[in-house]
Amino acid sequence: MSTVLEIADLKKLAQRRVPKMFFDYADSGAWTESTYRANESDFANIKLRQRVLVDMTDRSLATTMIGQNVTMPVALSPTGLAGMQHADGEILAAQAAAEFGVPFTLSTMSICSIEDVAAATKKPFWFQLYVMKDRDFVRNLIERAKVAGCSALVLTLDLQILGQRHKDLRNGLSAPPKFTPKHIWQMMTRPQWCLGMMGTQRRTFRNIDGHAKGVSDLSSLSSWTAEQFDPKLNWDDVEWIKNLWGGPLILKGILDEEDALMAAKTGADAIIVSNHGGRQLDGAPSSISMLPRIVDTVGDKVEIHLDGGIRSGQDVLKAIALGAKGTYIGRPFLYGLGAMGKTGVTKALEIIAREADITMALCGKRRITDVDSSILHKD
Ligand code: GLV
Repeated sequence: MSTVLEIADLKKLAQRRVPKMFFDYADSGAWTESTYRANESDFANIKLRQRVLVDMTDRSLATTMIGQNVTMPVALSPTGLAGMQHADGEILAAQAAAEFGVPFTLSTMSICSIEDVAAATKKPFWFQLYVMKDRDFVRNLIERAKVAGCSALVLTLDLQILGQRHKDLRNGLSAPPKFTPKHIWQMMTRPQWCLGMMGTQRRTFRNIDGHAKGVSDLSSLSSWTAEQFDPKLNWDDVEWIKNLWGGPLILKGILDEEDALMAAKTGADAIIVSNHGGRQLDGAPSSISMLPRIVDTVGDKVEIHLDGGIRSGQDVLKAIALGAKGTYIGRPFLYGLGAMGKTGVTKALEIIAREADITMALCGKRRITDVDSSILHKD
């Protein structure tokens, strides 16, 4: 493809370059994928207000998320297995984000470890925590994130058990991949990907491998999750983690007003309105449709971020207009990564920044910090 103009172009390229099981892992939601689809389609239903003859010079998308400067209010979401979209994927995405001036969030379920990413980057990144039954392991992960200089901990609240994604089960997803004829075929038809993977040692869950006791089967994400993720996680544990960590804390996975109130009471620095990209409770409402209610309920108590369904700079603007202080992209950067490695992640960020900038101008605003619900068309 000669010209990459939008995130959908990167998605098409990634599909050609990444083995099916890993491309599908990113491009999947739970069960019927209705929430995954709604995350995107509900954004499309929000209309913008066109304004004219407003001075459009000297525009800026710069703002802050949890008090940290960002060149635009878009962080990279924590995504499992990014290092299977492209060799050393988490390192490349973290470098691209740092160079662009936006936060990168490393998932607990990453391929490159906290230490791998810290060694390859100069700016602090954020670390996303899943809570395991083995609390020593959790303590250790938090300690490792501190030693690496991570500048926020993103605690995921909505994945105590794993939602069922049909594509992953049908594909027999694992990291490292199994060597069945089907999987070998999927990889052989992606020679560039294979070459990259042959050039790195990072092919398994390196935050866990060699660090966790009693992990019996690392090869299967779903069986390991079912075995190790703590289904008893509760609000007292949030307090315990907050105290252990002692730094900026972001709670991810709030989709309900009552939960938002509980989350605000913890004293966390921000909450992320999220349904885990439609990967957990299929049938839940889209993130963007819940944002206004959550802003009404706790907007004066805690900073509110949003993830789920953002595929363009217009979507970013819509989320900011509805009260989010920051947003996250998961699939858009994974598609960029799968398509072209670090260059593709930078491309995804550039596309979104350009769209956000032009949209802001055509809505009559010059600063993202001035964007509010006045840019939305109301019937
Ligand atoms: C893990 O976070 C997943 O959604 O697969």
